[in-house]
Formats: sequence, C-alpha cells, structure tokens
Amino acid sequence: MALRPLLTDETIEARIREMGAQIDADYPTATPLWLICILKGACYFMADLSRAIRREVFIDFMGISSYGKEKTTSGEVKITKDIDISLEGVDVLIIEDIIDSGVTLSYLVRLLQQRKPRSVRIATLLDKPERRLRPVDVAYVGFRIPDEFVVGYGLDHAEQYRNLRDLCVLEE
Ligand code: IMP
Ligand code: MG
Repeated sequence: MALRPLLTDETIEARIREMGAQIDADYPTATPLWLICILKGACYFMADLSRAIRREVFIDFMGISSYGKEKTTSGEVKITKDIDISLEGVDVLIIEDIIDSGVTLSYLVRLLQQRKPRSVRIATLLDKPERRLRPVDVAYVGFRIPDEFVVGYGLDHAEQYRNLRDLCVLEE
C-alpha cells in the first residue's frame, strides 16, 4: 500500500486557525462551550482546534463504535466511553475527524440533544459528502474531500498511520 499526500500539516494548521476564529465569532461567551472529542481519530484535531479558539472552552471525550455491517443501516451505534458531566444548558460542539455515511453522527446528535444542552453543533476536519446515507447538519467543515480512504493526522487504517503529520490517501 502507498501513501499519497493530500493535505500538508501547514495547510491543515492554517485552516484550523480560520475555524477557531469562526467559532470565537459565533458563540456567546456568557455560556460554557464544551468541545466533545470523538475518540480516537479526532484527538489531534481537538488539540489543535481547541488552541485555535481564544475564548474559554472545556473539553471531554467520547468513545463510539458502530455495530456490525448488518446493523449500521439501523443507525445504531454503541457508546464505549461516555462523558461524566451534565450538558444541560451548555453549548456542545462535537469534534469529529471525518464524516462519511453520517450514521454515527446523526445518532450521536440525537442522543446528546436528549441531555438538554443549549445547542449541539458539529465541527469536522473532513467531510466526504458523496458517501452520505444520513443527513447531518455540519456547522464547521475543515475540508471537503473526494471519496478516497485517508489516513494520518489522527485517522487510521486498522490503527496504523494515526501519527503521520500530513493527511494522505491510502492507495492499494
Ligand atoms: P460514518 O460517518 O458513520 O460513516 O463514520 C465515520 C467514521 O468512519 C469516522 O469517524 C472514521 O472513524 C471512519 N472513516 C470514514 N472514512 C474514513 C477514512 O477515509 N479514513 C479513516 N477513517 C474513516
Ligand atoms: Mg471516528
């Protein structure tokens, strides 16, 4: 398998600075803003995006796994690590690495809305809109990419390649 660079770390960093400025402009500072990182792929994006935001933010992490193939169409996902804090009345920004089918996030948004936050929005580094099965309203998108399998900057193939600085297409 070969790696073809798609986005360099400089390109990613520059885009994340813009996203941070946009988030600063959009959210009122009077209410708490919680960034909820979806493990594990989004952890590098979370680290960089949270530091590109100037206002106060709080961070937490959630683990999610999709059920087997036959069940993904039902939109069911399993929470493998939940957050401990109450989300009532706070602004929640879900931090995701990539949106593909949209199954995971459409489920997660509904789940978090039941916890009565003031708002729930999504920030994703990458979006593959061609692959969408479930509609997802995404407030912040770093890059729209074509339907290719990418690794690096947190994203993996069988747990490999997460620590590559650049985002690369994994080619057979
Ligand atoms: P979906 O939107 O429910 O299909 O799930 C998206 C999840 O699939 C992401 O959080 C990734 O874990 C994984 N994923 C989708 N496309 C890629 C890719 O190109 N590279 C690495 N992981 C991917
Ligand atoms: Mg993921």
